Amino acid sequence: MHIKMPASPRNIILIGASGGIGHAMLAALVERFRDANVAATRFRSPAPVQHERVQWHLLDVRDPGAIAGWAATFDRVDWVVNCAGFLHGPAGGPEKTIRSLEAEFLLENIRVNTLPTMLLAKHLSAALKKSAAPLLASVSARVGSIEDNRLGGWYSYRVSKAALNMALKTLSIEWKHSHPRGCVAALHPGTNDTALSRPFQANVPPENLFDPVYTAEMFVTLLSELDPARSGNFWAWDGTPVPW
Ligand SMILES: NC(=O)c1ccc[n+]([C@@H]2O[C@H](COP(=O)([O-])OP(=O)(O)OC[C@H]3O[C@@H](n4cnc5c(N)ncnc54)[C@H](OP(=O)(O)O)[C@@H]3O)[C@@H](O)[C@H]2O)c1
Repeated sequence: MHIKMPASPRNIILIGASGGIGHAMLAALVERFRDANVAATRFRSPAPVQHERVQWHLLDVRDPGAIAGWAATFDRVDWVVNCAGFLHGPAGGPEKTIRSLEAEFLLENIRVNTLPTMLLAKHLSAALKKSAAPLLASVSARVGSIEDNRLGGWYSYRVSKAALNMALKTLSIEWKHSHPRGCVAALHPGTNDTALSRPFQANVPPENLFDPVYTAEMFVTLLSELDPARSGNFWAWDGTPVPW
């Protein structure tokens, strides 16, 4: 089915809008879609910006009950974009070797990087069905690509993003029947200059280290040009497909 996404989603949910990429996405969405209201979430960080069309919500995406309760407050949703993510923190950082694997760190990666998108898809399914052209997109990472894995390492993060990718692909197959006008997308942002990547930027050439403002502009353009025929793909910021 070839139906173009609407130029103007009106009800947007943006998870992780307090992060580097999320904040830039919020600005790009508000600027691009002048009729849209954005329900934006943050967790530990303060709201980076106030805007009359942005409603801020506090949400710990590791809490399935909180996601369910919050999602139930929405009647109709056009776009859900998840920019929340975890790579390192007090619980640890990416592993160089399997000998560094810690069960709790792997589970924390799954709790933040994998499960929330699946729970949002579950609990917002009915609200998305009311949209003329629903979209669910989640920021993944190229390191979650099995085919593209040349360097190894980063077990927990890779596993959580590969699982996220599988969830999105599987959802896209279900949506062909349940949400035939809809589109599901996994997104790779490139390396962006944010708190998440800061400890790992040393070997990134300056031309490959993006300002999230640039990435967000590219993502919004990409998402607004998707259609159901291209649902269930993994896209880099510039619109090129990433192998699963
Ligand atoms: N930066 C890169 O180079 C890069 C590369 C590939 C993929 N990515 C992916 O891009 C996405 C955004 O990353 P970023 O670079 O923008 O990172 P960031 O600046 O560290 O932002 C992370 C976001 O996730 C939110 N978050 C983390 N844990 C949460 C929790 N338990 N509950 C609710 N929100 C939570 C944070 O909220 P608070 O700050 O309010 O706690 C923040 O909004 C992530 O999925 C990441 O894996 C980034």
